[in-house]
Amino acid sequence: VNRTDVDGLIAEAEAQPFTGWDFSWLDDRLTETPTHWDYTALVAERARVSPDLLDMGTGGGEWLSSLPDRPPLCVATEGWPPNVSVAAARLRPLGAYVVQDEGAVDNSQQASTDPRGRLPFKIGGFHLVVNRHEAFNPAEVARILAPGGWFVTQQVGEERWHDVHRLLGLPQPAVVDPWRLSMAVRQVQAAGLLITRGAETVLIQSFADVAALVWYLRAIPWEVPGFTAQAHRDRLVELQAQIDRDGPLEVRQPRFWLEARKPG
Ligand SMILES: C[S@@+](CC[C@H](N)C(=O)[O-])C[C@H]1O[C@@H](n2cnc3c(N)ncnc32)[C@H](O)[C@@H]1O
Repeated sequence: VNRTDVDGLIAEAEAQPFTGWDFSWLDDRLTETPTHWDYTALVAERARVSPDLLDMGTGGGEWLSSLPDRPPLCVATEGWPPNVSVAAARLRPLGAYVVQDEGAVDNSQQASTDPRGRLPFKIGGFHLVVNRHEAFNPAEVARILAPGGWFVTQQVGEERWHDVHRLLGLPQPAVVDPWRLSMAVRQVQAAGLLITRGAETVLIQSFADVAALVWYLRAIPWEVPGFTAQAHRDRLVELQAQIDRDGPLEVRQPRFWLEARKPG
């Protein structure tokens, strides 16, 4: 591949802003194999018959705004300050409230006594709490659920392998106790909820060019902390040559979901 092409791809990715939690610019430059469950449908099934819903860590409110059958009372939390106003601008016209919260420590790093991730809501205030790809404090989720209320979450899991690091020629991060379904089940049960359903899988993300990879890593800065395209330019040239020869770059990503209910 011609180096100028890669510089053009990098420049294209760097010129493209990322706001909220909106990946639509990537379009089919990043595809994912589907999970064998449908998180949105699973939430919609509960939302249809719930008087209220709390969406934890709503990003820019994109997913919640597209949820069919939203309950009469919808509230979303967001802990990352730049996204609070983005979410509010999208959700307020739909009648949903956005509340800034402090966010939780990554679940794999949480001690059972960790107070972070406090939710500014009363005991038993919600009948349905949902959370896609956001850390949560299980004791706080249990506290704000009404008796008989539901918690539905989908999470990005961890493994000991990190394909993006391998592609970039970086050392594998040390993962002591990976975040996965079994750990989530333990944490949620310890908070007093009853697990009703759940599953885990590994999906494949395919990056069609290095612009998609660069933009993705800028959008998700915790994936490869400190990533810059400039520092990895030589490797990006090699990766684009590999794509031109063999097709999209493939990255494995663990995902899981679980549903739990508060006794009562
Ligand atoms: C993985 S996103 C999930 C958003 C939403 N629940 C969804 O599924 O579409 C998790 C959170 O990370 C926040 N976030 C985005 N960029 C961030 C950054 N640079 N540092 C910390 N948090 C960030 C987002 O606002 C979002 O609430």
